[in-house]
Amino acid sequence: MALPDQLKGRLRLPVVAAPMFLASGPDLVVETCRAGALGTFPALNQRSTEGYGDWLSEIRDRLAEAEAAGGPPPAPFGVNLIVHRTNPRLDADLEMTVRHKVPVVITSLGAVPELVREVQAYGGVVFHDVISLRHARKAAGAGVDGIIAVSAGAGGHAGRMSPFALTSEIRGFFDGTLLLAGAINTGAQVAAARAMGADLAYLGTRFIATREALSPREHKAMILGADAADVIYTDRISGVNANFLRPSIAAAGLDPDALPPHEGLDMAADVKAWKTIWSAGEGVGGITDLPGASELCARLGEEYRAAVRALAAGF
Ligand SMILES: Cc1cc2nc3c(=O)[nH]c(=O)nc-3n(C[C@H](O)[C@H](O)[C@H](O)COP(=O)(O)O)c2cc1C
Repeated sequence: MALPDQLKGRLRLPVVAAPMFLASGPDLVVETCRAGALGTFPALNQRSTEGYGDWLSEIRDRLAEAEAAGGPPPAPFGVNLIVHRTNPRLDADLEMTVRHKVPVVITSLGAVPELVREVQAYGGVVFHDVISLRHARKAAGAGVDGIIAVSAGAGGHAGRMSPFALTSEIRGFFDGTLLLAGAINTGAQVAAARAMGADLAYLGTRFIATREALSPREHKAMILGADAADVIYTDRISGVNANFLRPSIAAAGLDPDALPPHEGLDMAADVKAWKTIWSAGEGVGGITDLPGASELCARLGEEYRAAVRALAAGF
């Protein structure tokens, strides 16, 4: 078990609200951090690097205000950078990230040693998300502080591996921070992730069904009404395998079972796809309400502590 020094004692809950395109923004981040979990958002949720910088300033100011008002110290926050040659904003967004000394940087697609060093040089930490052992080894080689194991059933660009297999194999060669993602909705499941060897649980879809998520009301409603059978794993929407809600594919006039092929990942096409066709993980069946993020975090904390007590009591 390992947390970077920068996070030790600063989280009241071993939970990260994962970055989600078109869903996570300042309100979700601030409320999550105030509730003691790590809040994050993708830099690309703002249309420009300048706008991204504005959000960083806003989040910092609001968290500082909350702390000055005498509440418990908020948890640190993080951003997601897509490290791919078709992301034209990467260099400028990285520069903005460094300028604002963002505490946690979550990289997707590419694990690049120079980027990792640049973030670590100002005291930030880098977590990299992976769906396979090959990518996990690459990330470890790039010097990241943490690896996010995105297992089968996760929202977004999910993997196919069982969380048991993925966490135990990564733990075999990596002793940094391990985060586990994929259909985690409850505090008991957070405890299960930790029992499996992860340090932190990484929750996406559960946080879309909160009042603060920026997602359209219809996307939230579709999550509340869906179960795992409504989720399809396909590379035909964005060029990379990801989980999408079948009803949103049908609403876009496509047949989820007869989707036309797609030419590899291209960020511009990817962005367009996610606006009209909505992603969610297989955990949707366990999501039945739309709380505020702070209420959700409080509930996760209670469930987590109850599960830990129950496990400690033996069987
Ligand atoms: C609508 C949606 C958008 C997402 N966008 C991103 C993104 O922009 N960057 C990223 O690294 N991961 C993204 N993800 C993946 C999440 O960060 C996280 O890995 C995943 O949601 C965890 O699985 P869960 O949804 O089953 O909890 C997205 C997931 C969803 C559901």
